[in-house]
Amino acid sequence: MSQYKILDKNSTKNKIILLRVDFNVPINNKKIQDITRINKMKEIIHSYINNNNKIVLCSHLGRPKKNMKDGLSFHPIKSEIEKALDSEIDFKDIEKIEKSKIKKSKKNIFLLENIRFYPGEETNNEEFSKKLASIADVYINEAFSCSHRSHASINGVTKYIDSYAGETVIEEINALNKIITQTQKPVACLIGGSKISTKIDLIINLLPKMDYMIIGGAMANNFFKYDNVNIGKSYFEQVDISIVKSIHQVANRCGCKIILPTDVIVSQNQHTKGILKKLNEVNNDDFIFDIGNETIKIIDEKLSKCKTVLWNGPFGLFENDNFSNGTEKIAKSVANYTKKNNLISVAGGGDTFAAIKKSNLISDFSYISTAGGAFLEWLEGKVLPGLKVLEK
Ligand code: 3PG
Repeated sequence: MSQYKILDKNSTKNKIILLRVDFNVPINNKKIQDITRINKMKEIIHSYINNNNKIVLCSHLGRPKKNMKDGLSFHPIKSEIEKALDSEIDFKDIEKIEKSKIKKSKKNIFLLENIRFYPGEETNNEEFSKKLASIADVYINEAFSCSHRSHASINGVTKYIDSYAGETVIEEINALNKIITQTQKPVACLIGGSKISTKIDLIINLLPKMDYMIIGGAMANNFFKYDNVNIGKSYFEQVDISIVKSIHQVANRCGCKIILPTDVIVSQNQHTKGILKKLNEVNNDDFIFDIGNETIKIIDEKLSKCKTVLWNGPFGLFENDNFSNGTEKIAKSVANYTKKNNLISVAGGGDTFAAIKKSNLISDFSYISTAGGAFLEWLEGKVLPGLKVLEK
């Protein structure tokens, strides 16, 4: 297993630290909707500052397109970040910042403008990476969730400055490794969400390690289609049906049981509460928006036997209260068995995190990752370019 370069926090003094964080937070009307990713950095930043270090915070925000920067600058949300970190921050444009000026400044924390506003970031440009490296003495990656990107602030910069894996990155790697290498059986994987194409590698990679692969969300519709079950007008991703066939074949070969919903909540639109139907009762004008009570019971019964569970993706349209029941009940089951049976429960992905947060169950899971793509790629067994460069 890879070992990463780690900086001893207590002996790091009088340094300028370029801290790659993930402040890619949801924004609405120039207001931050979920501050978790920023809160997570507060203690770490304060401990460096208390040792006379200066911090340059570097992050992206969203996926800005050329000339479409509106709403994605850090400037309008600077005061909310200051409040969350309980510190004053100096907002800086990367092109105008210099190490000597940081040294002289009375300020301790600097926040760079959205790093994706600069073309050199996403192209992993050498000159831009050098510029980033030139403003600090050391670089620390505290953004596991961005480490699957071969971008300058994640990958390129590490060639030109002493670089380390931060403590949240190490914590995340340890939690994910535990689920892969030290899993206690029986182990279940709950996979939901809408796009099967984004999860196929994950499912195939995990099947040999799992006893149960429990599939829900709109992704289950691809399995229903494969079985010639009517899904009415429900969303399903148009993919080659052989994907489902391969999943069944691999599952059979390695003895992993695939569990699919047996009943569902359907409605003709998202604004009215749905009704419960057996899978074979779905009409041509129905939309499937959630799993039903029998399915919830089957999943709960499987989870009660498990020692480890991994969860990615909601099981219904959880953001709509009319259809959040299935995802909420699963979150409650996992939380309950984590407490009662010492189940090791690891969940990850933006929507999954939001669903568990909505159910107020964050602290009842063993580990929850806020990472999306990076979480999936790590579990797929891929090498993350932002972590590879931090290996010892
Ligand atoms: C995330 O939210 O998963 C990270 O911030 C990465 O964002 P990205 O998918 O835009 O690179």
